[in-house]
Amino acid sequence: MRRTTVQAALQGVGSGAEARVMGWVRTRRDAKGFSFLEINDGSCLTNLQAIVDDGAQGAALLKELGTGAAVAVTGELVPSPGKGQRFELRATKLELLGPADSETYPLQKKRHSDEFLRTIAHLRPRTNKYGAMLRLRSALGQAVHAFFAARGFAWVQTPIITGSDCEGAGEMFRVTALSDAESCLPPGERASRDFFAKDAYLTVSGQLSAEPLALALGKVYTFGPTFRAEHSDTSRHAAEFWMLEPEMAFADLEDDMDLGEALLKHLVGVAVHDCAEDFALFAKYVDPSLPDTLGAILERPFVRLPYAEAVEILSKAGETFQFPVGFGCDLQSEHERYLTERHFKRPVVLYDYPKEIKAFYMRQNDDGKTVAAMDVLVPGIGEIIGGSAREERLDVLTGRIRELSLPMENYWWYLDTRRFGTVPHAGFGLGFERLVMLVTGIGNIRDVTAFARTWRHLEF
Ligand code: 4AD
Ligand code: MG
Repeated sequence: MRRTTVQAALQGVGSGAEARVMGWVRTRRDAKGFSFLEINDGSCLTNLQAIVDDGAQGAALLKELGTGAAVAVTGELVPSPGKGQRFELRATKLELLGPADSETYPLQKKRHSDEFLRTIAHLRPRTNKYGAMLRLRSALGQAVHAFFAARGFAWVQTPIITGSDCEGAGEMFRVTALSDAESCLPPGERASRDFFAKDAYLTVSGQLSAEPLALALGKVYTFGPTFRAEHSDTSRHAAEFWMLEPEMAFADLEDDMDLGEALLKHLVGVAVHDCAEDFALFAKYVDPSLPDTLGAILERPFVRLPYAEAVEILSKAGETFQFPVGFGCDLQSEHERYLTERHFKRPVVLYDYPKEIKAFYMRQNDDGKTVAAMDVLVPGIGEIIGGSAREERLDVLTGRIRELSLPMENYWWYLDTRRFGTVPHAGFGLGFERLVMLVTGIGNIRDVTAFARTWRHLEF
Protein backbone atom coordinates (compact mmCIF):
# COMPACT_ATOMS: atom_id res chain seq x y z
CA MET A 1 0.00 0.00 0.00
CA ARG A 2 1.32 3.39 -0.87
CA ARG A 3 1.56 5.50 2.24
CA THR A 4 3.57 8.25 3.85
CA THR A 5 4.41 7.67 7.50
CA VAL A 6 3.51 10.36 9.99
CA GLN A 7 7.20 10.78 10.76
CA ALA A 8 7.99 11.46 7.11
CA ALA A 9 4.92 13.66 6.69
CA LEU A 10 5.91 15.84 9.63
CA GLN A 11 9.21 16.49 7.86
CA GLY A 12 7.43 17.41 4.67
CA VAL A 13 8.45 14.30 2.74
CA GLY A 14 5.99 14.12 -0.14
CA SER A 15 4.85 17.73 0.15
CA GLY A 16 3.91 19.21 -3.17
CA ALA A 17 2.52 15.86 -4.34
CA GLU A 18 -0.47 13.88 -3.11
CA ALA A 19 0.27 12.09 0.17
CA ARG A 20 -1.67 9.27 1.81
CA VAL A 21 -1.27 8.82 5.55
CA MET A 22 -2.69 5.91 7.53
CA GLY A 23 -2.97 5.70 11.26
CA TRP A 24 -5.15 5.80 14.33
CA VAL A 25 -7.16 8.81 15.36
CA ARG A 26 -6.02 10.26 18.66
CA THR A 27 -8.52 13.12 18.75
CA ARG A 28 -11.11 14.79 16.58
CA ARG A 29 -12.08 18.42 16.97
CA ASP A 30 -14.90 19.87 14.92
CA ALA A 31 -14.99 23.49 13.77
CA LYS A 32 -17.38 25.27 11.45
CA GLY A 33 -17.06 23.71 8.03
CA PHE A 34 -14.10 21.41 8.85
CA SER A 35 -12.60 19.09 11.45
CA PHE A 36 -9.12 18.52 12.85
CA LEU A 37 -7.90 14.96 13.18
CA GLU A 38 -4.78 14.14 15.19
CA ILE A 39 -3.33 11.00 13.65
CA ASN A 40 -0.63 8.72 15.02
CA ASP A 41 0.79 5.71 13.21
CA GLY A 42 3.49 4.73 15.69
CA SER A 43 6.35 5.93 13.50
CA CYS A 44 7.06 8.74 15.95
CA LEU A 45 5.68 10.37 19.06
CA THR A 46 4.16 13.46 17.46
CA ASN A 47 0.73 13.29 15.81
CA LEU A 48 0.05 14.61 12.36
CA GLN A 49 -2.76 17.11 12.14
CA ALA A 50 -5.13 16.55 9.26
CA ILE A 51 -7.71 19.14 8.29
CA VAL A 52 -10.75 17.60 6.73
CA ASP A 53 -13.08 19.97 5.00
CA ASP A 54 -16.79 19.15 5.16
CA GLY A 55 -16.65 19.06 1.36
CA ALA A 56 -13.82 16.47 1.20
CA GLN A 57 -14.58 13.03 -0.15
CA GLY A 58 -15.70 10.78 2.71
CA ALA A 59 -16.21 13.71 5.10
CA ALA A 60 -19.55 12.22 6.07
CA LEU A 61 -17.57 9.61 8.00
CA LEU A 62 -16.26 12.27 10.36
CA LYS A 63 -19.13 11.93 12.81
CA GLU A 64 -18.22 8.29 13.42
CA LEU A 65 -14.55 8.97 13.99
CA GLY A 66 -13.59 8.64 17.61
CA THR A 67 -10.31 7.96 19.36
CA GLY A 68 -8.87 4.63 18.24
CA ALA A 69 -10.42 4.45 14.79
CA ALA A 70 -8.07 3.60 11.93
CA VAL A 71 -8.16 5.91 8.92
CA ALA A 72 -6.44 6.69 5.66
CA VAL A 73 -6.25 10.37 4.82
CA THR A 74 -5.21 11.53 1.39
CA GLY A 75 -4.33 15.11 0.65
CA GLU A 76 -1.60 17.68 0.38
CA LEU A 77 1.09 18.29 2.96
CA VAL A 78 1.42 22.00 3.54
CA PRO A 79 3.57 24.02 5.96
CA SER A 80 1.58 24.37 9.16
CA PRO A 81 0.78 27.78 10.62
CA GLY A 82 0.20 26.11 14.02
CA LYS A 83 2.81 25.58 16.72
CA GLY A 84 4.51 22.24 17.32
CA GLN A 85 4.50 20.87 13.78
CA ARG A 86 6.12 21.90 10.54
CA PHE A 87 3.60 20.31 8.20
CA GLU A 88 -0.07 19.44 8.25
CA LEU A 89 -2.27 17.49 5.90
CA ARG A 90 -5.04 19.22 3.95
CA ALA A 91 -7.34 16.29 3.24
CA THR A 92 -9.13 15.72 -0.01
CA LYS A 93 -10.25 12.22 0.89
CA LEU A 94 -11.02 10.37 4.12
CA GLU A 95 -11.37 6.59 4.39
CA LEU A 96 -12.39 4.65 7.46
CA LEU A 97 -10.20 1.52 7.66
CA GLY A 98 -11.32 0.22 11.03
CA PRO A 99 -13.91 1.82 13.26
CA ALA A 100 -13.53 1.92 17.05
CA ASP A 101 -16.46 2.54 19.34
CA SER A 102 -15.33 5.46 21.46
CA GLU A 103 -17.73 4.45 24.24
CA THR A 104 -16.03 1.11 24.77
CA TYR A 105 -12.49 1.84 23.52
CA PRO A 106 -10.42 1.34 26.70
CA LEU A 107 -7.94 4.14 25.94
CA GLN A 108 -9.63 7.39 26.74
CA LYS A 109 -8.05 10.78 26.30
CA LYS A 110 -7.23 11.11 30.02
CA ARG A 111 -4.03 9.81 31.56
CA HIS A 112 -4.27 6.15 32.62
CA SER A 113 -2.37 4.52 35.46
CA ASP A 114 0.38 2.00 34.72
CA GLU A 115 -1.62 -0.59 36.66
CA PHE A 116 -4.62 -0.15 34.41
CA LEU A 117 -2.54 -0.16 31.26
CA ARG A 118 -0.99 -3.50 32.25
CA THR A 119 -4.46 -5.02 32.01
CA ILE A 120 -4.65 -3.93 28.36
CA ALA A 121 -1.10 -4.72 27.26
CA HIS A 122 -2.40 -5.34 23.72
CA LEU A 123 -3.58 -1.72 23.44
CA ARG A 124 -1.10 0.20 25.57
CA PRO A 125 1.47 0.43 22.74
CA ARG A 126 -0.93 2.98 21.26
CA THR A 127 -0.32 5.39 24.13
CA ASN A 128 2.44 7.98 23.91
CA LYS A 129 4.43 6.52 26.77
CA TYR A 130 4.43 2.89 25.67
CA GLY A 131 4.90 3.76 22.01
CA ALA A 132 7.95 5.81 23.00
CA MET A 133 9.26 3.01 25.23
CA LEU A 134 8.93 0.44 22.44
CA ARG A 135 10.65 2.66 19.88
CA LEU A 136 13.46 3.33 22.34
CA ARG A 137 13.74 -0.36 23.09
CA SER A 138 14.00 -1.10 19.40
CA ALA A 139 16.67 1.57 18.87
CA LEU A 140 18.68 0.19 21.79
CA GLY A 141 18.48 -3.35 20.43
CA GLN A 142 19.73 -2.19 17.05
CA ALA A 143 22.46 -0.14 18.73
CA VAL A 144 23.63 -3.25 20.57
CA HIS A 145 24.31 -5.00 17.28
CA ALA A 146 25.99 -1.92 15.79
CA PHE A 147 28.21 -1.52 18.87
CA PHE A 148 29.48 -5.08 18.72
CA ALA A 149 29.78 -5.19 14.96
CA ALA A 150 32.02 -2.10 15.09
CA ARG A 151 34.27 -3.88 17.61
CA GLY A 152 34.63 -7.09 15.62
CA PHE A 153 32.38 -9.32 17.75
CA ALA A 154 30.49 -12.16 16.11
CA TRP A 155 26.82 -12.45 17.04
CA VAL A 156 26.18 -16.05 18.09
CA GLN A 157 22.98 -17.83 18.98
CA THR A 158 22.98 -20.05 22.03
CA PRO A 159 20.26 -22.56 22.87
CA ILE A 160 17.07 -21.66 24.70
CA ILE A 161 16.61 -25.26 25.82
CA THR A 162 19.53 -26.37 27.95
CA GLY A 163 20.62 -29.24 30.15
CA SER A 164 22.64 -27.27 32.70
CA ASP A 165 22.04 -24.56 35.26
CA CYS A 166 24.59 -21.90 34.36
CA GLU A 167 24.18 -19.87 37.50
CA GLY A 168 23.64 -22.82 39.82
CA ALA A 169 20.87 -20.91 41.55
CA GLY A 170 18.14 -23.45 40.75
CA GLU A 171 15.83 -20.83 39.31
CA MET A 172 15.04 -22.78 36.16
CA PHE A 173 11.86 -23.66 34.32
CA ARG A 174 11.64 -27.28 33.26
CA VAL A 175 10.82 -28.12 29.64
CA THR A 176 8.60 -31.13 29.04
CA ALA A 177 6.79 -32.34 25.95
CA LEU A 178 3.09 -32.29 26.70
CA SER A 179 2.72 -35.83 25.47
CA ASP A 180 5.38 -36.95 27.98
CA ALA A 181 3.99 -34.96 30.86
CA GLU A 182 0.57 -36.43 30.36
CA SER A 183 1.81 -39.94 29.86
CA CYS A 184 -0.09 -42.52 31.84
CA LEU A 185 3.08 -44.55 32.30
CA PRO A 186 4.37 -44.74 35.87
CA PRO A 187 7.16 -42.18 36.53
CA GLY A 188 9.96 -44.78 36.54
CA GLU A 189 9.17 -45.97 33.03
CA ARG A 190 8.35 -42.52 31.79
CA ALA A 191 11.93 -41.22 31.92
CA SER A 192 13.03 -43.19 28.91
CA ARG A 193 10.19 -41.73 26.92
CA ASP A 194 10.78 -38.13 27.90
CA PHE A 195 11.63 -36.10 24.88
CA PHE A 196 15.33 -35.54 25.54
CA ALA A 197 15.72 -38.60 27.76
CA LYS A 198 17.16 -36.22 30.35
CA ASP A 199 16.09 -33.14 32.24
CA ALA A 200 15.73 -30.06 30.07
CA TYR A 201 15.30 -26.46 31.11
CA LEU A 202 14.83 -22.99 29.68
CA THR A 203 18.15 -21.19 29.72
CA VAL A 204 19.00 -18.79 32.57
CA SER A 205 22.04 -17.50 30.65
CA GLY A 206 23.74 -18.29 27.36
CA GLN A 207 27.18 -17.99 28.90
CA LEU A 208 28.25 -21.62 29.12
CA SER A 209 27.53 -22.05 25.41
CA ALA A 210 29.03 -18.67 24.50
CA GLU A 211 32.38 -19.51 26.14
CA PRO A 212 33.32 -22.31 23.68
CA LEU A 213 32.35 -19.97 20.85
CA ALA A 214 34.57 -17.18 22.22
CA LEU A 215 37.36 -19.75 22.53
CA ALA A 216 37.05 -20.31 18.80
CA LEU A 217 36.00 -16.96 17.33
CA GLY A 218 37.75 -14.67 19.81
CA LYS A 219 34.97 -12.19 20.53
CA VAL A 220 31.29 -13.11 20.52
CA TYR A 221 28.01 -11.97 21.99
CA THR A 222 24.58 -13.42 22.46
CA PHE A 223 21.41 -11.37 22.67
CA GLY A 224 18.19 -13.17 23.35
CA PRO A 225 15.53 -14.29 25.78
CA THR A 226 16.43 -15.73 29.16
CA PHE A 227 14.21 -17.26 31.80
CA ARG A 228 14.27 -17.34 35.58
CA ALA A 229 11.74 -18.81 37.96
CA GLU A 230 12.25 -16.21 40.65
CA HIS A 231 9.39 -16.39 43.07
CA SER A 232 9.64 -12.76 43.96
CA ASP A 233 7.37 -9.91 43.15
CA THR A 234 9.94 -7.15 42.76
CA SER A 235 9.95 -4.28 40.31
CA ARG A 236 13.17 -5.49 38.62
CA HIS A 237 12.79 -9.24 38.25
CA ALA A 238 11.04 -10.80 35.29
CA ALA A 239 10.52 -14.49 34.56
CA GLU A 240 11.36 -13.85 30.90
CA PHE A 241 13.84 -11.13 29.96
CA TRP A 242 16.43 -10.40 27.32
CA MET A 243 20.07 -10.67 28.16
CA LEU A 244 23.03 -9.39 26.22
CA GLU A 245 26.14 -11.46 26.87
CA PRO A 246 29.53 -10.63 25.37
CA GLU A 247 32.36 -13.09 25.87
CA MET A 248 36.02 -12.37 25.00
CA ALA A 249 39.02 -14.65 24.72
CA PHE A 250 42.43 -13.30 25.77
CA ALA A 251 40.75 -10.92 28.19
CA ASP A 252 40.81 -10.29 31.94
CA LEU A 253 38.54 -8.62 34.46
CA GLU A 254 39.75 -5.16 33.59
CA ASP A 255 38.96 -5.68 29.91
CA ASP A 256 35.54 -6.87 31.02
CA MET A 257 34.89 -3.74 33.10
CA ASP A 258 36.15 -1.53 30.27
CA LEU A 259 33.76 -3.16 27.81
CA GLY A 260 30.80 -2.92 30.20
CA GLU A 261 31.42 0.75 30.83
CA ALA A 262 31.89 1.58 27.14
CA LEU A 263 28.74 -0.35 26.23
CA LEU A 264 26.55 1.34 28.84
CA LYS A 265 27.83 4.78 27.89
CA HIS A 266 27.19 4.07 24.24
CA LEU A 267 23.64 2.80 24.76
CA VAL A 268 22.71 5.65 27.10
CA GLY A 269 24.07 8.07 24.48
CA VAL A 270 21.87 6.46 21.83
CA ALA A 271 18.80 6.91 24.03
CA VAL A 272 19.56 10.53 24.91
CA HIS A 273 20.85 11.78 21.57
CA ASP A 274 19.51 9.53 18.80
CA CYS A 275 16.04 9.09 20.33
CA ALA A 276 15.70 12.68 21.55
CA GLU A 277 11.97 13.01 20.86
CA ASP A 278 10.95 9.88 22.74
CA PHE A 279 13.54 10.46 25.46
CA ALA A 280 12.14 13.95 26.11
CA LEU A 281 8.77 12.42 27.03
CA PHE A 282 10.36 10.38 29.81
CA ALA A 283 12.43 13.30 31.07
CA LYS A 284 9.29 15.45 31.19
CA TYR A 285 6.63 13.10 32.50
CA VAL A 286 8.28 10.08 34.09
CA ASP A 287 11.47 11.20 35.82
CA PRO A 288 12.65 14.81 35.66
CA SER A 289 16.03 13.85 37.16
CA LEU A 290 16.71 11.55 34.19
CA PRO A 291 18.92 14.00 32.23
CA ASP A 292 21.16 14.47 35.30
CA THR A 293 21.37 10.77 36.10
CA LEU A 294 22.18 9.85 32.52
CA GLY A 295 24.46 12.87 32.11
CA ALA A 296 26.59 11.53 34.99
CA ILE A 297 26.79 8.18 33.20
CA LEU A 298 27.85 9.80 29.94
CA GLU A 299 30.32 12.31 31.29
CA ARG A 300 32.07 10.77 34.26
CA PRO A 301 34.10 7.58 34.59
CA PHE A 302 32.37 4.87 36.62
CA VAL A 303 33.65 4.27 40.14
CA ARG A 304 35.55 0.96 40.41
CA LEU A 305 35.65 -0.46 43.89
CA PRO A 306 36.49 -3.84 45.44
CA TYR A 307 33.49 -5.47 47.12
CA ALA A 308 35.30 -5.42 50.48
CA GLU A 309 35.63 -1.62 50.33
CA ALA A 310 31.97 -1.26 49.41
CA VAL A 311 31.02 -3.32 52.47
CA GLU A 312 33.15 -1.00 54.59
CA ILE A 313 31.47 2.10 53.18
CA LEU A 314 28.06 0.56 53.78
CA SER A 315 28.80 -0.48 57.34
CA LYS A 316 30.03 3.03 58.14
CA ALA A 317 27.12 4.68 56.35
CA GLY A 318 25.12 5.25 59.53
CA GLU A 319 22.07 3.90 57.71
CA THR A 320 19.68 1.34 59.02
CA PHE A 321 19.39 -1.11 56.19
CA GLN A 322 16.72 -3.77 56.20
CA PHE A 323 19.44 -6.37 55.53
CA PRO A 324 22.62 -6.08 57.60
CA VAL A 325 25.92 -5.73 55.72
CA GLY A 326 29.11 -7.67 56.30
CA PHE A 327 31.83 -9.35 54.21
CA GLY A 328 30.25 -12.37 52.57
CA CYS A 329 26.74 -10.98 52.28
CA ASP A 330 25.00 -10.72 48.95
CA LEU A 331 24.37 -7.01 48.49
CA GLN A 332 20.68 -6.12 48.28
CA SER A 333 19.06 -3.51 46.11
CA GLU A 334 19.01 -1.06 49.05
CA HIS A 335 22.80 -1.33 49.40
CA GLU A 336 23.42 -1.01 45.69
CA ARG A 337 21.20 2.02 45.51
CA TYR A 338 22.85 3.65 48.51
CA LEU A 339 26.22 3.38 46.80
CA THR A 340 25.09 4.72 43.44
CA GLU A 341 22.43 7.23 44.44
CA ARG A 342 23.69 8.67 47.71
CA HIS A 343 27.36 7.92 48.18
CA PHE A 344 28.91 8.19 44.70
CA LYS A 345 25.97 9.58 42.68
CA ARG A 346 27.02 7.67 39.57
CA PRO A 347 27.53 4.09 38.41
CA VAL A 348 29.76 1.88 40.50
CA VAL A 349 31.57 -1.24 39.33
CA LEU A 350 32.12 -3.57 42.25
CA TYR A 351 34.66 -6.35 41.81
CA ASP A 352 36.41 -9.18 43.65
CA TYR A 353 33.36 -10.67 45.35
CA PRO A 354 33.54 -13.45 47.96
CA LYS A 355 33.53 -16.73 46.08
CA GLU A 356 30.74 -18.20 48.21
CA ILE A 357 28.12 -15.86 46.77
CA LYS A 358 29.18 -16.21 43.14
CA ALA A 359 28.87 -18.89 40.45
CA PHE A 360 31.26 -21.83 40.04
CA TYR A 361 32.80 -20.62 36.77
CA MET A 362 34.29 -17.38 38.12
CA ARG A 363 38.07 -17.14 38.25
CA GLN A 364 39.49 -17.51 41.74
CA ASN A 365 41.81 -14.81 43.01
CA ASP A 366 45.09 -15.57 44.74
CA ASP A 367 43.69 -14.58 48.16
CA GLY A 368 41.68 -17.82 48.19
CA LYS A 369 38.61 -15.88 49.31
CA THR A 370 37.44 -13.87 46.35
CA VAL A 371 36.72 -14.33 42.65
CA ALA A 372 37.39 -11.98 39.72
CA ALA A 373 33.72 -11.03 39.39
CA MET A 374 32.26 -7.64 38.64
CA ASP A 375 28.80 -6.13 38.90
CA VAL A 376 27.89 -2.77 37.43
CA LEU A 377 25.43 -0.90 39.63
CA VAL A 378 23.48 2.11 38.40
CA PRO A 379 21.28 4.68 40.13
CA GLY A 380 17.59 3.84 40.30
CA ILE A 381 18.11 0.17 39.43
CA GLY A 382 21.04 -1.38 41.26
CA GLU A 383 22.71 -4.24 39.39
CA ILE A 384 22.45 -3.94 35.63
CA ILE A 385 25.50 -5.99 34.59
CA GLY A 386 26.96 -9.10 36.17
CA GLY A 387 30.13 -10.69 34.84
CA SER A 388 33.54 -12.13 35.57
CA ALA A 389 36.82 -13.47 34.36
CA ARG A 390 36.21 -17.19 33.79
CA GLU A 391 38.19 -19.89 35.56
CA GLU A 392 40.36 -21.14 32.72
CA ARG A 393 42.53 -23.50 34.83
CA LEU A 394 41.18 -27.04 34.54
CA ASP A 395 42.29 -28.21 37.98
CA VAL A 396 40.91 -25.17 39.79
CA LEU A 397 37.63 -25.38 37.90
CA THR A 398 37.07 -29.08 38.51
CA GLY A 399 38.01 -28.52 42.16
CA ARG A 400 35.31 -25.90 42.46
CA ILE A 401 32.71 -28.07 40.73
CA ARG A 402 33.53 -30.85 43.19
CA GLU A 403 33.43 -28.48 46.16
CA LEU A 404 29.95 -27.36 45.18
CA SER A 405 28.79 -30.95 44.45
CA LEU A 406 27.72 -29.98 40.93
CA PRO A 407 27.16 -32.82 38.45
CA MET A 408 30.63 -33.05 36.82
CA GLU A 409 29.37 -35.30 34.00
CA ASN A 410 27.10 -32.50 32.72
CA TYR A 411 30.08 -30.26 32.16
CA TRP A 412 32.34 -32.59 30.14
CA TRP A 413 32.10 -30.44 27.04
CA TYR A 414 32.66 -27.20 29.00
CA LEU A 415 35.72 -28.72 30.66
CA ASP A 416 37.07 -29.77 27.24
CA THR A 417 37.61 -26.07 26.46
CA ARG A 418 39.99 -25.99 29.46
CA ARG A 419 41.62 -29.23 28.41
CA PHE A 420 42.43 -28.12 24.89
CA GLY A 421 44.00 -24.72 24.35
CA THR A 422 42.51 -22.92 27.32
CA VAL A 423 43.08 -19.16 27.56
CA PRO A 424 42.10 -16.37 29.95
CA HIS A 425 38.67 -15.10 28.99
CA ALA A 426 35.93 -12.93 30.41
CA GLY A 427 32.39 -11.81 29.78
CA PHE A 428 29.25 -10.42 31.31
CA GLY A 429 25.49 -10.28 31.06
CA LEU A 430 23.49 -7.08 30.78
CA GLY A 431 19.78 -7.21 31.56
CA PHE A 432 18.11 -5.49 28.61
CA GLU A 433 14.91 -4.64 30.50
CA ARG A 434 16.94 -3.01 33.25
CA LEU A 435 18.69 -0.94 30.59
CA VAL A 436 15.32 0.24 29.28
CA MET A 437 14.29 1.07 32.86
CA LEU A 438 17.49 3.09 33.25
CA VAL A 439 17.06 5.23 30.15
CA THR A 440 13.31 5.81 30.56
CA GLY A 441 13.05 6.16 34.33
CA ILE A 442 10.21 3.62 34.23
CA GLY A 443 10.15 2.06 37.69
CA ASN A 444 8.66 -1.37 37.01
CA ILE A 445 10.06 -4.09 34.79
CA ARG A 446 6.51 -4.99 33.75
CA ASP A 447 6.33 -1.69 31.87
CA VAL A 448 9.50 -1.93 29.76
CA THR A 449 8.50 -4.83 27.56
CA ALA A 450 5.38 -5.28 25.46
CA PHE A 451 4.06 -8.41 27.15
CA ALA A 452 5.77 -8.92 30.49
CA ARG A 453 6.10 -12.28 32.19
CA THR A 454 6.55 -11.98 35.92
CA TRP A 455 5.64 -14.06 38.95
CA ARG A 456 1.90 -14.72 38.88
CA HIS A 457 1.38 -12.71 35.69
CA LEU A 458 0.77 -14.33 32.32
CA GLU A 459 -2.35 -12.70 30.91
CA PHE A 460 -1.44 -12.17 27.31
O1 4AD B 1 24.12 -11.51 37.17
P1 4AD B 1 23.48 -12.55 36.28
O2 4AD B 1 22.71 -13.61 36.94
O3 4AD B 1 24.68 -13.12 35.41
C1 4AD B 1 24.62 -14.18 34.56
O4 4AD B 1 23.64 -14.80 34.28
C2 4AD B 1 25.91 -14.44 33.86
N1 4AD B 1 25.93 -15.82 33.41
C3 4AD B 1 26.07 -13.49 32.71
C4 4AD B 1 27.37 -13.61 32.01
O5 4AD B 1 28.41 -13.41 32.61
N2 4AD B 1 27.36 -13.92 30.72
O6 4AD B 1 22.55 -11.80 35.23
C5 4AD B 1 23.07 -10.81 34.39
C6 4AD B 1 22.13 -9.61 34.34
C7 4AD B 1 21.88 -8.96 35.69
O7 4AD B 1 22.91 -8.05 36.02
C8 4AD B 1 20.56 -8.28 35.45
O8 4AD B 1 20.72 -7.05 34.78
C9 4AD B 1 19.86 -9.24 34.53
O9 4AD B 1 20.84 -10.04 33.91
N3 4AD B 1 18.90 -10.10 35.24
C10 4AD B 1 17.57 -9.93 35.23
N4 4AD B 1 16.81 -9.02 34.63
C11 4AD B 1 15.48 -9.12 34.80
N5 4AD B 1 14.87 -10.09 35.52
C12 4AD B 1 15.60 -11.02 36.14
N6 4AD B 1 14.99 -11.99 36.82
C13 4AD B 1 17.02 -10.98 36.01
N7 4AD B 1 18.03 -11.74 36.47
C14 4AD B 1 19.17 -11.18 35.99
MG1 MG C 1 24.16 -11.04 39.16
